[in-house]
Amino acid sequence: MTAADHPALGEAISSRLAELAALSDEPGRLTRLYLSPAHRRAIDLVSYWMRDAGMSVRLDPLASVVGRYEAQDGGTQTLLLGSHIDSVRNAGRFDGPLGVVTAIEVVKAAFKSGKRYPFAIEVVAFGDEEGVRFATTLGGSRALAGTFDERALDEVDESTISRREALTAFGCDPSRVAAERRPPDSILGYIEVHIEQGPVLEKEGLPLGVVTTIDGVTRATIDVEGVAGHAGTVPMAMRHDALAAAAEMLLAIEERARRQPNLVATVGKLDVPRSAPNTIPGRVRFTLDIRSPADAERIRAVDDIKAAIAAIAARRGVMQRLTPGHQAPAAHCDEKLSDLLAAAAASCGAAPRRMPSGAGHDAMAFDKIIPFAMLFVRCRGGVSHNPDEYASPGDIDIAARVLSAFLDRIATP
Ligand code: HGY
Ligand code: MN
Ligand code: MN
Repeated sequence: MTAADHPALGEAISSRLAELAALSDEPGRLTRLYLSPAHRRAIDLVSYWMRDAGMSVRLDPLASVVGRYEAQDGGTQTLLLGSHIDSVRNAGRFDGPLGVVTAIEVVKAAFKSGKRYPFAIEVVAFGDEEGVRFATTLGGSRALAGTFDERALDEVDESTISRREALTAFGCDPSRVAAERRPPDSILGYIEVHIEQGPVLEKEGLPLGVVTTIDGVTRATIDVEGVAGHAGTVPMAMRHDALAAAAEMLLAIEERARRQPNLVATVGKLDVPRSAPNTIPGRVRFTLDIRSPADAERIRAVDDIKAAIAAIAARRGVMQRLTPGHQAPAAHCDEKLSDLLAAAAASCGAAPRRMPSGAGHDAMAFDKIIPFAMLFVRCRGGVSHNPDEYASPGDIDIAARVLSAFLDRIATP
Protein backbone atom coordinates (compact mmCIF):
# COMPACT_ATOMS: atom_id res chain seq x y z
CA MET A 1 0.00 0.00 0.00
CA THR A 2 1.50 3.37 -0.90
CA ALA A 3 1.27 6.25 1.52
CA ALA A 4 -1.10 7.88 -0.94
CA ASP A 5 -3.66 5.23 0.05
CA HIS A 6 -3.20 6.22 3.69
CA PRO A 7 -2.08 9.80 3.24
CA ALA A 8 -1.45 10.67 6.91
CA LEU A 9 0.69 13.69 5.99
CA GLY A 10 -1.78 14.68 3.31
CA GLU A 11 -4.68 14.44 5.75
CA ALA A 12 -2.82 16.49 8.38
CA ILE A 13 -2.02 19.22 5.83
CA SER A 14 -5.60 19.18 4.49
CA SER A 15 -7.10 19.67 7.94
CA ARG A 16 -4.72 22.53 8.68
CA LEU A 17 -5.68 24.17 5.39
CA ALA A 18 -9.31 23.93 6.46
CA GLU A 19 -8.43 25.56 9.79
CA LEU A 20 -6.54 28.38 8.06
CA ALA A 21 -9.37 28.87 5.55
CA ALA A 22 -11.71 29.80 8.40
CA LEU A 23 -9.66 32.98 9.01
CA SER A 24 -11.37 35.39 6.63
CA ASP A 25 -12.24 39.08 6.47
CA GLU A 26 -15.63 38.27 4.95
CA PRO A 27 -18.27 36.02 6.55
CA GLY A 28 -19.16 32.92 4.59
CA ARG A 29 -16.26 33.13 2.12
CA LEU A 30 -12.48 33.22 2.16
CA THR A 31 -11.04 36.69 1.64
CA ARG A 32 -7.76 37.42 3.42
CA LEU A 33 -6.12 40.60 2.21
CA TYR A 34 -2.65 41.84 3.06
CA LEU A 35 -2.40 43.38 6.59
CA SER A 36 -6.07 42.73 7.36
CA PRO A 37 -7.43 41.37 10.68
CA ALA A 38 -7.70 37.92 9.08
CA HIS A 39 -4.08 38.19 7.94
CA ARG A 40 -3.08 38.91 11.55
CA ARG A 41 -4.97 35.82 12.77
CA ALA A 42 -3.42 33.71 10.04
CA ILE A 43 0.04 34.95 11.07
CA ASP A 44 -0.64 33.90 14.66
CA LEU A 45 -1.83 30.42 13.64
CA VAL A 46 1.04 29.81 11.18
CA SER A 47 3.54 31.07 13.80
CA TYR A 48 2.15 28.57 16.30
CA TRP A 49 2.48 25.72 13.77
CA MET A 50 6.05 26.77 12.97
CA ARG A 51 7.05 26.76 16.66
CA ASP A 52 5.40 23.37 17.08
CA ALA A 53 7.65 22.21 14.22
CA GLY A 54 10.81 23.22 16.09
CA MET A 55 11.33 26.54 14.33
CA SER A 56 12.15 29.96 15.76
CA VAL A 57 9.64 32.47 14.40
CA ARG A 58 9.70 36.19 13.58
CA LEU A 59 7.61 38.69 11.63
CA ASP A 60 9.65 40.63 9.10
CA PRO A 61 9.19 44.37 8.29
CA LEU A 62 6.68 43.60 5.50
CA ALA A 63 4.69 41.15 7.67
CA SER A 64 6.07 37.92 6.21
CA VAL A 65 6.28 35.17 8.84
CA VAL A 66 9.73 33.57 8.87
CA GLY A 67 10.16 30.22 10.61
CA ARG A 68 13.78 29.06 10.92
CA TYR A 69 14.91 25.45 11.45
CA GLU A 70 18.60 25.51 12.35
CA ALA A 71 21.20 23.48 10.51
CA GLN A 72 23.20 20.67 12.00
CA ASP A 73 26.58 21.95 13.30
CA GLY A 74 28.57 23.88 10.76
CA GLY A 75 25.73 24.38 8.27
CA THR A 76 26.12 27.97 7.00
CA GLN A 77 23.66 28.14 4.10
CA THR A 78 19.87 28.37 4.16
CA LEU A 79 17.20 26.76 1.97
CA LEU A 80 14.04 28.86 1.61
CA LEU A 81 10.64 27.15 1.42
CA GLY A 82 7.24 28.79 1.42
CA SER A 83 4.42 30.51 -0.40
CA HIS A 84 1.77 33.13 0.46
CA ILE A 85 -1.10 33.28 2.97
CA ASP A 86 -2.97 36.24 1.50
CA SER A 87 -5.83 35.49 -0.88
CA VAL A 88 -8.01 36.96 -3.60
CA ARG A 89 -11.65 37.69 -2.75
CA ASN A 90 -13.86 34.59 -2.39
CA ALA A 91 -10.77 32.42 -2.74
CA GLY A 92 -10.00 28.75 -2.45
CA ARG A 93 -8.12 27.36 0.54
CA PHE A 94 -5.12 25.89 -1.33
CA ASP A 95 -3.69 28.79 -3.38
CA GLY A 96 -0.72 29.85 -1.25
CA PRO A 97 -1.32 28.10 2.10
CA LEU A 98 -0.66 24.67 0.54
CA GLY A 99 3.00 25.64 0.06
CA VAL A 100 3.37 27.07 3.55
CA VAL A 101 1.64 24.25 5.45
CA THR A 102 3.34 21.50 3.43
CA ALA A 103 6.76 23.03 4.19
CA ILE A 104 5.91 23.31 7.92
CA GLU A 105 4.71 19.69 8.07
CA VAL A 106 7.86 18.40 6.32
CA VAL A 107 10.09 20.32 8.75
CA LYS A 108 7.94 19.10 11.65
CA ALA A 109 8.47 15.46 10.57
CA ALA A 110 12.24 16.07 10.57
CA PHE A 111 12.09 17.83 13.95
CA LYS A 112 10.03 15.05 15.57
CA SER A 113 12.56 12.48 14.36
CA GLY A 114 15.50 14.60 15.55
CA LYS A 115 16.75 15.11 12.00
CA ARG A 116 18.85 18.11 11.02
CA TYR A 117 20.24 19.04 7.60
CA PRO A 118 23.63 20.49 6.65
CA PHE A 119 21.74 23.71 5.92
CA ALA A 120 19.18 25.76 7.79
CA ILE A 121 15.63 25.89 6.46
CA GLU A 122 13.50 29.03 6.50
CA VAL A 123 9.80 28.59 5.84
CA VAL A 124 8.34 31.93 4.74
CA ALA A 125 4.63 32.78 4.71
CA PHE A 126 4.41 35.84 2.44
CA GLY A 127 1.40 38.12 2.88
CA ASP A 128 1.42 40.21 -0.28
CA GLU A 129 1.41 37.92 -3.30
CA GLU A 130 -2.07 38.47 -4.72
CA GLY A 131 -1.79 42.25 -4.97
CA VAL A 132 -5.52 42.76 -4.27
CA ARG A 133 -5.15 45.55 -1.71
CA PHE A 134 -2.22 47.51 -3.21
CA ALA A 135 -1.19 47.98 -6.85
CA THR A 136 2.16 46.20 -6.89
CA THR A 137 2.63 42.72 -5.51
CA LEU A 138 5.35 40.26 -4.40
CA GLY A 139 6.49 42.80 -1.77
CA GLY A 140 7.47 40.11 0.74
CA SER A 141 9.51 37.97 -1.64
CA ARG A 142 11.08 41.05 -3.27
CA ALA A 143 12.33 42.10 0.18
CA LEU A 144 14.23 38.80 0.48
CA ALA A 145 15.55 39.23 -3.07
CA GLY A 146 16.68 42.76 -2.23
CA THR A 147 14.54 44.29 -4.99
CA PHE A 148 11.65 45.76 -3.01
CA ASP A 149 10.89 49.23 -4.41
CA GLU A 150 10.29 51.51 -1.39
CA ARG A 151 8.03 53.72 -3.52
CA ALA A 152 5.49 50.91 -3.09
CA LEU A 153 5.19 52.02 0.54
CA ASP A 154 3.30 55.09 -0.69
CA GLU A 155 0.73 53.11 -2.71
CA VAL A 156 -2.74 53.53 -1.26
CA ASP A 157 -5.65 51.09 -1.03
CA GLU A 158 -9.34 51.77 -1.78
CA SER A 159 -9.66 53.61 1.56
CA THR A 160 -6.59 55.73 0.65
CA ILE A 161 -4.54 54.05 3.42
CA SER A 162 -0.90 53.78 2.31
CA ARG A 163 1.06 50.55 2.55
CA ARG A 164 3.38 52.33 4.97
CA GLU A 165 0.50 53.36 7.25
CA ALA A 166 -1.02 49.88 7.10
CA LEU A 167 2.31 48.26 7.99
CA THR A 168 2.89 50.64 10.90
CA ALA A 169 -0.63 50.04 12.20
CA PHE A 170 0.12 46.30 11.88
CA GLY A 171 3.13 46.73 14.18
CA CYS A 172 5.76 46.44 11.44
CA ASP A 173 8.61 48.86 10.72
CA PRO A 174 8.93 49.18 6.92
CA SER A 175 12.03 51.37 7.32
CA ARG A 176 13.91 48.12 8.08
CA VAL A 177 12.97 46.34 4.84
CA ALA A 178 16.44 46.66 3.27
CA ALA A 179 17.92 44.48 6.04
CA GLU A 180 15.72 41.57 4.88
CA ARG A 181 17.79 41.04 1.74
CA ARG A 182 19.29 37.55 1.78
CA PRO A 183 22.88 37.58 0.43
CA PRO A 184 22.51 35.19 -2.55
CA ASP A 185 25.63 33.19 -1.64
CA SER A 186 24.05 32.36 1.74
CA ILE A 187 20.97 30.85 0.10
CA LEU A 188 20.82 27.37 -1.47
CA GLY A 189 17.59 28.23 -3.24
CA TYR A 190 13.85 28.74 -2.89
CA ILE A 191 11.33 25.90 -3.36
CA GLU A 192 7.59 26.57 -3.60
CA VAL A 193 4.87 23.92 -3.57
CA HIS A 194 1.68 25.26 -5.18
CA ILE A 195 -1.51 23.97 -6.78
CA GLU A 196 -1.30 24.05 -10.57
CA GLN A 197 -4.38 26.31 -10.85
CA GLY A 198 -4.89 24.83 -14.32
CA PRO A 199 -6.32 21.63 -15.86
CA VAL A 200 -3.23 19.97 -17.39
CA LEU A 201 -2.14 17.58 -14.61
CA GLU A 202 -5.69 16.35 -14.08
CA LYS A 203 -6.18 15.88 -17.83
CA GLU A 204 -2.98 13.82 -18.05
CA GLY A 205 -3.74 11.86 -14.86
CA LEU A 206 -0.60 13.10 -13.07
CA PRO A 207 -0.40 14.22 -9.42
CA LEU A 208 2.64 16.48 -9.79
CA GLY A 209 4.35 18.90 -12.15
CA VAL A 210 7.71 20.69 -12.04
CA VAL A 211 7.54 24.26 -13.34
CA THR A 212 9.82 25.42 -16.18
CA THR A 213 8.92 29.13 -16.49
CA ILE A 214 6.47 31.55 -14.86
CA ASP A 215 4.72 33.87 -17.32
CA GLY A 216 5.61 37.54 -17.35
CA VAL A 217 2.79 39.90 -16.42
CA THR A 218 1.67 43.48 -16.99
CA ARG A 219 -1.14 44.90 -14.88
CA ALA A 220 -2.71 48.34 -15.31
CA THR A 221 -5.80 50.37 -14.39
CA ILE A 222 -7.72 52.25 -17.07
CA ASP A 223 -9.97 55.21 -16.25
CA VAL A 224 -12.49 56.25 -18.91
CA GLU A 225 -14.20 59.63 -18.57
CA GLY A 226 -17.20 60.57 -20.72
CA VAL A 227 -20.26 62.73 -20.02
CA ALA A 228 -22.91 61.61 -17.57
CA GLY A 229 -26.41 62.43 -18.76
CA HIS A 230 -30.11 61.69 -18.57
CA ALA A 231 -30.85 58.25 -20.05
CA GLY A 232 -34.09 59.53 -21.52
CA THR A 233 -33.13 62.81 -23.09
CA VAL A 234 -29.70 62.54 -24.71
CA PRO A 235 -29.90 61.30 -28.34
CA MET A 236 -27.58 58.33 -29.04
CA ALA A 237 -25.47 60.31 -31.53
CA MET A 238 -24.73 62.95 -28.92
CA ARG A 239 -23.59 60.64 -26.13
CA HIS A 240 -20.12 60.20 -24.66
CA ASP A 241 -20.97 57.04 -22.74
CA ALA A 242 -17.95 55.91 -20.65
CA LEU A 243 -19.33 52.39 -20.15
CA ALA A 244 -20.10 51.79 -23.83
CA ALA A 245 -16.57 52.99 -24.64
CA ALA A 246 -15.09 50.67 -21.99
CA ALA A 247 -17.13 47.78 -23.38
CA GLU A 248 -15.69 48.35 -26.86
CA MET A 249 -12.19 48.57 -25.32
CA LEU A 250 -12.77 45.28 -23.47
CA LEU A 251 -13.72 43.50 -26.71
CA ALA A 252 -10.68 44.98 -28.46
CA ILE A 253 -8.45 43.64 -25.64
CA GLU A 254 -10.03 40.18 -25.96
CA GLU A 255 -9.66 40.21 -29.75
CA ARG A 256 -5.95 41.14 -29.52
CA ALA A 257 -5.23 38.37 -26.99
CA ARG A 258 -7.05 35.77 -29.08
CA ARG A 259 -4.59 36.45 -31.91
CA GLN A 260 -1.69 34.91 -29.97
CA PRO A 261 -1.77 31.29 -28.65
CA ASN A 262 0.31 31.78 -25.45
CA LEU A 263 -0.92 35.26 -24.59
CA VAL A 264 -3.78 35.90 -22.18
CA ALA A 265 -5.47 39.19 -21.29
CA THR A 266 -8.10 39.69 -18.61
CA VAL A 267 -10.28 42.55 -17.44
CA GLY A 268 -11.00 41.25 -13.94
CA LYS A 269 -12.58 44.32 -12.40
CA LEU A 270 -14.85 47.01 -13.83
CA ASP A 271 -16.40 49.72 -11.65
CA VAL A 272 -19.01 52.29 -12.60
CA PRO A 273 -19.00 54.76 -9.71
CA ARG A 274 -22.25 56.55 -8.81
CA SER A 275 -24.13 54.47 -11.39
CA ALA A 276 -27.91 54.55 -11.82
CA PRO A 277 -30.29 52.83 -14.27
CA ASN A 278 -31.42 56.15 -15.75
CA THR A 279 -28.02 57.83 -16.04
CA ILE A 280 -25.56 57.56 -18.91
CA PRO A 281 -22.29 56.46 -17.21
CA GLY A 282 -19.81 59.32 -17.07
CA ARG A 283 -16.90 57.39 -15.53
CA VAL A 284 -15.63 53.83 -15.59
CA ARG A 285 -12.50 52.22 -14.12
CA PHE A 286 -11.32 48.78 -15.21
CA THR A 287 -8.24 46.63 -14.66
CA LEU A 288 -6.03 44.95 -17.24
CA ASP A 289 -3.88 41.83 -16.72
CA ILE A 290 -1.75 40.58 -19.65
CA ARG A 291 0.53 37.55 -19.49
CA SER A 292 2.84 35.56 -21.72
CA PRO A 293 5.90 33.31 -21.36
CA ALA A 294 7.56 35.56 -23.98
CA ASP A 295 8.28 39.10 -22.75
CA ALA A 296 8.62 40.65 -26.23
CA GLU A 297 5.20 39.23 -27.19
CA ARG A 298 3.59 40.62 -24.02
CA ILE A 299 5.13 44.08 -24.49
CA ARG A 300 3.94 44.19 -28.11
CA ALA A 301 0.44 43.24 -27.01
CA VAL A 302 0.47 45.93 -24.31
CA ASP A 303 1.46 48.54 -26.91
CA ASP A 304 -1.24 47.39 -29.34
CA ILE A 305 -3.88 47.46 -26.60
CA LYS A 306 -2.84 50.95 -25.48
CA ALA A 307 -3.22 52.15 -29.09
CA ALA A 308 -6.64 50.48 -29.45
CA ILE A 309 -7.90 52.06 -26.22
CA ALA A 310 -6.70 55.50 -27.33
CA ALA A 311 -8.33 55.16 -30.77
CA ILE A 312 -11.68 54.09 -29.30
CA ALA A 313 -11.57 56.96 -26.79
CA ALA A 314 -10.84 59.50 -29.54
CA ARG A 315 -13.61 58.21 -31.80
CA ARG A 316 -16.15 58.26 -28.97
CA GLY A 317 -15.09 61.61 -27.56
CA VAL A 318 -14.17 60.27 -24.11
CA MET A 319 -10.95 60.70 -22.12
CA GLN A 320 -8.89 57.68 -21.08
CA ARG A 321 -5.94 57.32 -18.69
CA LEU A 322 -3.87 54.14 -18.24
CA THR A 323 -2.03 53.83 -14.92
CA PRO A 324 0.66 51.10 -14.94
CA GLY A 325 0.56 48.66 -12.02
CA HIS A 326 2.45 45.45 -11.26
CA GLN A 327 4.93 44.36 -13.92
CA ALA A 328 7.22 41.33 -13.88
CA PRO A 329 9.21 39.64 -16.67
CA ALA A 330 8.87 35.90 -17.33
CA ALA A 331 10.87 34.00 -14.68
CA HIS A 332 12.93 30.86 -15.34
CA CYS A 333 13.19 28.06 -12.79
CA ASP A 334 16.67 26.82 -11.92
CA GLU A 335 17.43 23.67 -13.92
CA LYS A 336 19.55 21.97 -11.25
CA LEU A 337 16.96 22.44 -8.49
CA SER A 338 14.18 21.47 -10.89
CA ASP A 339 16.02 18.28 -11.88
CA LEU A 340 16.54 17.45 -8.18
CA LEU A 341 12.82 18.05 -7.54
CA ALA A 342 11.88 15.85 -10.52
CA ALA A 343 14.25 13.09 -9.36
CA ALA A 344 12.77 13.26 -5.85
CA ALA A 345 9.28 12.97 -7.35
CA ALA A 346 10.30 10.01 -9.49
CA SER A 347 11.80 8.32 -6.41
CA CYS A 348 8.34 8.65 -4.79
CA GLY A 349 6.73 7.03 -7.83
CA ALA A 350 5.31 10.30 -9.16
CA ALA A 351 7.47 11.31 -12.12
CA PRO A 352 6.32 14.88 -12.76
CA ARG A 353 5.38 16.73 -15.94
CA ARG A 354 7.56 19.71 -16.78
CA MET A 355 5.26 22.65 -17.45
CA PRO A 356 5.00 26.47 -17.57
CA SER A 357 2.98 28.47 -15.03
CA GLY A 358 0.47 31.01 -16.32
CA ALA A 359 -0.14 32.06 -12.73
CA GLY A 360 2.33 34.33 -10.97
CA HIS A 361 4.04 33.24 -7.75
CA ASP A 362 6.36 34.63 -5.07
CA ALA A 363 9.11 32.53 -6.66
CA MET A 364 9.33 34.92 -9.63
CA ALA A 365 10.74 37.63 -7.36
CA PHE A 366 13.93 35.53 -7.04
CA ASP A 367 14.54 35.30 -10.80
CA LYS A 368 18.24 35.87 -11.67
CA ILE A 369 19.01 36.44 -7.93
CA ILE A 370 18.31 33.22 -5.98
CA PRO A 371 17.83 29.88 -7.77
CA PHE A 372 14.28 28.65 -7.39
CA ALA A 373 12.06 25.71 -8.38
CA MET A 374 8.35 24.97 -8.08
CA LEU A 375 6.39 21.76 -7.51
CA PHE A 376 2.83 21.82 -8.85
CA VAL A 377 0.05 19.74 -7.33
CA ARG A 378 -2.94 18.60 -9.40
CA CYS A 379 -6.14 20.50 -8.62
CA ARG A 380 -9.66 19.41 -9.49
CA GLY A 381 -10.92 20.83 -12.78
CA GLY A 382 -7.99 23.25 -12.75
CA VAL A 383 -10.23 25.54 -10.72
CA SER A 384 -8.58 28.27 -8.63
CA HIS A 385 -9.31 31.75 -7.26
CA ASN A 386 -12.65 30.13 -6.49
CA PRO A 387 -14.06 28.42 -3.37
CA ASP A 388 -14.34 25.17 -5.37
CA GLU A 389 -10.54 24.97 -5.55
CA TYR A 390 -9.48 21.46 -4.39
CA ALA A 391 -6.39 19.25 -4.10
CA SER A 392 -6.78 15.74 -2.67
CA PRO A 393 -5.06 14.57 0.56
CA GLY A 394 -3.51 11.80 -1.53
CA ASP A 395 -1.85 14.23 -3.97
CA ILE A 396 -0.83 16.54 -1.13
CA ASP A 397 0.69 13.55 0.68
CA ILE A 398 2.79 12.69 -2.37
CA ALA A 399 3.91 16.34 -2.70
CA ALA A 400 4.97 16.43 0.97
CA ARG A 401 6.93 13.19 0.59
CA VAL A 402 8.59 14.57 -2.55
CA LEU A 403 9.60 17.75 -0.73
CA SER A 404 11.08 15.63 2.06
CA ALA A 405 12.92 13.45 -0.47
CA PHE A 406 14.17 16.63 -2.15
CA LEU A 407 15.66 17.86 1.17
CA ASP A 408 17.49 14.55 1.51
CA ARG A 409 18.82 14.82 -2.03
CA ILE A 410 20.03 18.41 -1.69
CA ALA A 411 21.60 17.47 1.66
CA THR A 412 23.74 14.76 0.09
CA PRO A 413 24.93 16.20 -3.27
O1 HGY B 1 -2.22 36.63 -10.34
C1 HGY B 1 -1.62 35.58 -10.16
O2 HGY B 1 -1.21 34.92 -11.10
C2 HGY B 1 -1.39 35.06 -8.79
O3 HGY B 1 -2.48 34.25 -8.43
N1 HGY B 1 -1.24 36.14 -7.86
MN1 MN C 1 -0.69 31.65 -5.42
MN1 MN D 1 -3.50 33.40 -6.54
